[in-house]
Amino acid sequence: MDKLVIEGGRPLHGSLSASGAKNAALPILIATLLAPGEHRLANVPELADTLSTLSLLGRIGCPSLVDGHDVRLDTSRIAFNEAPYDLVRKMRASVLVLGPLLARVGEARVSLPGGCAIGVRPIDQHLRGLEALGARFELSGGYIHGRAGRLRGATFQFDMPTVTGTENVLMAAVLADGTTTLHNAAREPEIVDLGNFLISLGARIEGLGTSTLVIEGVSRLSPASRPWPILPDRIETGTWLVAAAVTGGDVTVTDTDPTLLTAVLAKLEQAGCTVETTPTSIRCIGPERLKALKVITEPHPGFPTDMQAQFMALACVADGPSTVVENIFENRFLHAAELLRMGARIDTRGNTATVVGVDHLEGAAVMASDLRASAALVIAALAAQGRTEVLRIYHLDRGYEDLTARLRSLGARIARVSDHEQDEATIQAALDA
Ligand code: EPU
Repeated sequence: MDKLVIEGGRPLHGSLSASGAKNAALPILIATLLAPGEHRLANVPELADTLSTLSLLGRIGCPSLVDGHDVRLDTSRIAFNEAPYDLVRKMRASVLVLGPLLARVGEARVSLPGGCAIGVRPIDQHLRGLEALGARFELSGGYIHGRAGRLRGATFQFDMPTVTGTENVLMAAVLADGTTTLHNAAREPEIVDLGNFLISLGARIEGLGTSTLVIEGVSRLSPASRPWPILPDRIETGTWLVAAAVTGGDVTVTDTDPTLLTAVLAKLEQAGCTVETTPTSIRCIGPERLKALKVITEPHPGFPTDMQAQFMALACVADGPSTVVENIFENRFLHAAELLRMGARIDTRGNTATVVGVDHLEGAAVMASDLRASAALVIAALAAQGRTEVLRIYHLDRGYEDLTARLRSLGARIARVSDHEQDEATIQAALDA
């Protein structure tokens, strides 16, 4: 296994382009199952989760060809209708095959995802929504076994706006008989991208980006003639901007879309950053000293839970007490204990963390619990004095393409070395390379 070695305290400068969004690419890759034939996607991020999704589709009988960020997928034939435990436990988004397989072949077996570091994360809403369309489920041996005849349109109200829950039911409804109305649907931009992709295959969907989706089922979908470009990753973009902010740097992210990050950019400005935007780029200039702030996570268009950890790292070096409230996941403060190891002052009670900014953080060995927690530790390390080692970086490989090289291009002293690499000369050489 590898670790990251980071020597902090250098302002980041320069520009880098945003990758395609992980959380749009995964459902869109899976949605190709709905339309038999050859699909082409562009701007697909090169991530461990992308490879896991392609491997899952391969097992289902759909081979793919990857050429950089372009992916070709052949979904002509479904040979197998199962998402096995070894893939689902690596990547919860595998559960998204449920809706498309039920709609296309009337049967699916999907390993029930267990809890994960950030919370219990049940899938009851996915199942209830699909049941409303006529599917029936049984649980046996840790697997959900779903069966359906032709799905029928229905009206369904989600108990809470769930991102992948909305995606699963939406994907099933596009091939159902009649009209489906989904109330309290999630409104994240990645769902809008998925919905527009489905429309490009022939689906009829209204209300994308609002909490009510109306879907007129069609009898078949076909691959689009042009490659579908995945929308930019707003969380990756936000992560680079916070890295600029905490180091007092000046970074421009290109090929992005500022309208996807309204809540995040407002918080960066409140923290004292200068934020400049064009329709496709965002520049963030960090101040001498950041200001304390209050961050409350909410479903889109509120402040995203996927940026909470990164802003907690920012609050650690801001002037005065900040408050961070996590409303989406019940256990998403695991990074706090690691930040304490770097000299942060954080008190967590229930879903609220009070962070009193310190003059500076100090490098330490830290361990990541999930993808965004890992990003927060990298940000803290970039701001800290001295050397930080971030362990368990396989989480980062799931969601950040080429993180080391891209931060190096902005002037960070960061290197990826083997977990067991203790030899100082080798580590120095990697940092200097
Ligand atoms: N929930 C239920 N029942 C359900 C579904 C959700 O109780 O059937 C609860 C969850 O436990 C949670 C809340 O509803 O408390 C919202 O969870 P949601 O279903 O929206 O999360 P998700 O679809 O599992 C996606 C992203 C996450 C992101 C969340 C919230 C993908 C592949 N994953 O997860 O991304 O944090 O939405 O925005 O789209 C990440 O990229 O690091 C990541 C974790």
